Amino acid sequence: MGKLLLTTILLIFLSVVSLCHAQQTDLVIDEKPAPKLINPIQTHLRVYWHENFTGPNPTSVVIAEAPSTNSSATQFGRTYTFDNPLTLDPVSTVDVVGRAQGLYAFTSKEEMAFTLTLNVLFTEEKYNGSTILVYGRVNVDNTVKEIPIVGGSGVFKYATGYSSVQRTSFDPATFNNVIKYDLFVNHY
Ligand SMILES: *[C@@H]1O[C@H](CO)[C@@H](O)[C@H](O)[C@H]1NC(C)=O
Ligand SMILES: *[C@@H]1O[C@H](CO)[C@@H](O)[C@H](O)[C@H]1NC(C)=O
Ligand SMILES: *[C@@H]1O[C@H](CO)[C@@H](O)[C@H](O)[C@H]1NC(C)=O
Repeated sequence: MGKLLLTTILLIFLSVVSLCHAQQTDLVIDEKPAPKLINPIQTHLRVYWHENFTGPNPTSVVIAEAPSTNSSATQFGRTYTFDNPLTLDPVSTVDVVGRAQGLYAFTSKEEMAFTLTLNVLFTEEKYNGSTILVYGRVNVDNTVKEIPIVGGSGVFKYATGYSSVQRTSFDPATFNNVIKYDLFVNHY
């Protein structure tokens, strides 16, 4: 009797193990009504981005340009990638609360304007590892710029909203700059 019980337990155990290792055969795992996203909260975050083109360890670099870019008044085609520190202080970069990582490319033949793909990655407390995706067109000559927030991860899943962006410091010799990002992010 004891032996039978043991065999049964063993068989159940083995079938559970084989289920766990079963080869996936269906593309779709599950299909159900999407969760109703109600009562979003709006979080207003403010960070300063510090972009540095100079020195042996720049935070922003040109990765591509077209043969015609140098003769373009609007830098058409020039593409940068960046990993800029984000701080709460407009001057000091000692206390970093996140990183601005992404790409921008000059995409207008008429104006100084680029297309920005910006992952705002937070590294502090409950936001650590969460991201906000800022994506859109930026006209360099506008004093106040608005760029859409089109998504997020972690705390900012299902994020929407916009960022209001203003340059607070600029060195014309090096183009090094500080930009204030006010992020108005709706999430759940
Ligand atoms: C940029 O980097 C250079 C070289 O590392 C450094 O001397 C300079 O202070 C930095 N500038 C800014 C605005 O962070
Ligand atoms: C554009 O000009 C810069 C600086 O003079 C030079 O280093 C670069 O090679 C030029 N790019 C092209 C695509 O000709
Ligand atoms: C944030 O997360 C990273 C990776 O999980 C971890 O190494 C780091 O210590 C965390 N930082 C804080 C401030 O919690």
